[in-house]
Amino acid sequence: MLCVEISKEKSTIPVAEIASFCKIKKVYRDAVPCEGEALKLKRLAYSRSVNDLLFSCSPDELQEKMHGMHYDDFCVRVFNAGKEKESMERAIGAVMDGRVNLKSARNEIRIFLEGNEALVCRNLFTIRERFDERRATKRPFFSPTSLHPRLARAMVNLSGAEKEILDPFCGTGGILIEGALMGLKVYGSDVQERMIEGCKENLRFFGFGAKEKDYDYMLSCSDIGESEFKNVEAIVTDMPYGRSSYTAKEQLCSLYERSFERFHAILRPGGKAVVCTNNQSFLMRYAGHFELRSLHKIYVNRSMCRYIGVFIRT
Ligand SMILES: C[S@@+](CC[C@H](N)C(=O)[O-])C[C@H]1O[C@@H](n2cnc3c(N)ncnc32)[C@H](O)[C@@H]1O
Repeated sequence: MLCVEISKEKSTIPVAEIASFCKIKKVYRDAVPCEGEALKLKRLAYSRSVNDLLFSCSPDELQEKMHGMHYDDFCVRVFNAGKEKESMERAIGAVMDGRVNLKSARNEIRIFLEGNEALVCRNLFTIRERFDERRATKRPFFSPTSLHPRLARAMVNLSGAEKEILDPFCGTGGILIEGALMGLKVYGSDVQERMIEGCKENLRFFGFGAKEKDYDYMLSCSDIGESEFKNVEAIVTDMPYGRSSYTAKEQLCSLYERSFERFHAILRPGGKAVVCTNNQSFLMRYAGHFELRSLHKIYVNRSMCRYIGVFIRT
């Protein structure tokens, strides 16, 4: 059994991301025991580490249960213990068997205290993605409408895509960059030629498509209604909304209606559409022929929330 340490984000996204790849057994405040392939979880955006769950017990039983537990080279880290943290780590380390190594232990024992339970784990890996280094302002082609890379990555994960994604409103390519960095084939289109050129430049900046024969990605300049992609595994997209979004003067309700119709034609049966907008009622109204798998709300500021709908093409 695995145990994922999630970030402290007040959102439904961290757990939903894990559920795209694993069977979740229980959700604690900071830890999520689940069954699945650990390696698939390296791409999570809102999690901190992936661990093997060794056993769980009451916090009072920890020393007794861990007495004589052997690792050649280990350290103990206790989470959520407040002021007791260091004394608990020392006391547990003292009853275990093997060499304590606080600097670079080969076995890091992580204990998550969750109310009346202690989840005793061995760390498999820590997730260290440098999202801030990929922020929109740090790319050669910039637009203020681009999502934060952490959210863009989480959206790709919510699709569960293992092979490919399409962003038919790709803009500067924030979602495509994350998909490509995860090893997926990425396809994108946008109605503005300058966005397609800028998106290419950004993808090149991150090492994709530098060579002519390199088919890491495919981009085309087209209106959503003319998108020719077919049988695609997943659509992951951030729709136009808000004051600075370009819509070629089309009313948003008309654009959303046309878009969901097109998404249906583009996706293979069972394929997923992960769609971000600030207008929850548009998602409910125009995605009628999709099955809604989950809906996530993200607070942006006093006057704006984002909604991310995860839909399945029936
Ligand atoms: C919110 S932005 C996407 C931001 C993007 N995620 C990024 O990282 O830059 C929406 C994009 O939709 C494009 N767009 C607007 N109307 C469109 C249409 N009818 N068909 C295709 N793309 C359209 C705009 O040009 C804009 O780049």
